[in-house]
Amino acid sequence: MPVGTDIAVAAQLLEKGELVAIPTETVYGLGGNAFNTEAVMKIYEAKQRPQFNPLIIHSNTLEKFESWGIQLPVEALRLAAVFSPGPLTYVVARSPLIPDIVTAGNDAVAIRIPGHPLTLGLLARLDFPVAAPSANPSGFISPTSAKHVEEQLGNQVAYILDGGACKVGIESTIISFLEDTPRILRYGGIPEEEIIKLLGHPVQPPPPASQNVIAPGMLSRHYASKHQLIHDDPAHHLGKYNPERIGIISFQTTYPAIPFNNQFVLSETGDLHEAARKLFAAMREADKLDIDVILAERFPPRGLGNAINDRLRRASVAE
Ligand code: TXA
Ligand code: MG
Repeated sequence: MPVGTDIAVAAQLLEKGELVAIPTETVYGLGGNAFNTEAVMKIYEAKQRPQFNPLIIHSNTLEKFESWGIQLPVEALRLAAVFSPGPLTYVVARSPLIPDIVTAGNDAVAIRIPGHPLTLGLLARLDFPVAAPSANPSGFISPTSAKHVEEQLGNQVAYILDGGACKVGIESTIISFLEDTPRILRYGGIPEEEIIKLLGHPVQPPPPASQNVIAPGMLSRHYASKHQLIHDDPAHHLGKYNPERIGIISFQTTYPAIPFNNQFVLSETGDLHEAARKLFAAMREADKLDIDVILAERFPPRGLGNAINDRLRRASVAE
């Protein structure tokens, strides 16, 4: 499959119902024409994604979503004025134009305007929304570069639009407007604190994670690594393993007892944005090491730290 930066080629392939990997500021998406049921089927097949797990649809303006019968409630519009294009996804009432297979039969649809210039240019050329889950096999680590996509789903896509390394590096925050008070469904690129500040009132927390899907996107086991990953203060676990066979994902700290090459310090200066940007690549690299366990610190529970902890916690859940 070709890799390139040609949005005209990408647009043509999407129009024909082919799959195109698209860069966004969060992670790469596996894109298909959301109005084309067969294209959407291909997305589920390529990812081996269970069909009860719905897809986010992407476009470049709110006006286009409105033209497809999708209205944002007032509070969502207030957020969108500040955070879109950007790493925020809105779950709102669905429109009959959106095929069942996109929403997995739900009465709600998830929409996002991604903040990546190349993909915004692509979306501007299209008169349909692009359904795009993260471009990884279901349950695995999300891709933050074209190379990551190529390694895992290269054979499944007609084209990889290469937009460089993802600047946010962690998926969008998902917020639902189906209840009286908005509810965060997934922590992500826009911190909860910023949402609360803008709205001027608290929001509801995500429902508890579950192995038995009670709500879409709430599968606890996700971001699976080959090696066991323990999400806890590494100091509590260092003594249990051969230090040569431990990998560590830390915020700022280096661990003298562990080989330097086995350590992934995500931000020496303590910047949670930098840490989020580097997280998934570090998880992939750690997984390639010849080791027995990955120890991952708990990040400060503020700002993007909540999203980082969410991903590490899901990666740590035993199968
Ligand atoms: O940053 C992102 O959001 C990336 C980029 C490509 O946009 N996309 C992404 O998609 O992370 P995916 O499919 O990996 O995760 C989307 C999550 C899933 O957990 C899904 O269950 C949830 O969004 N979701 C999608 N539609 C929904 C709906 N109608 N109601 C509730 N949750 C929904
Ligand atoms: Mg995903």
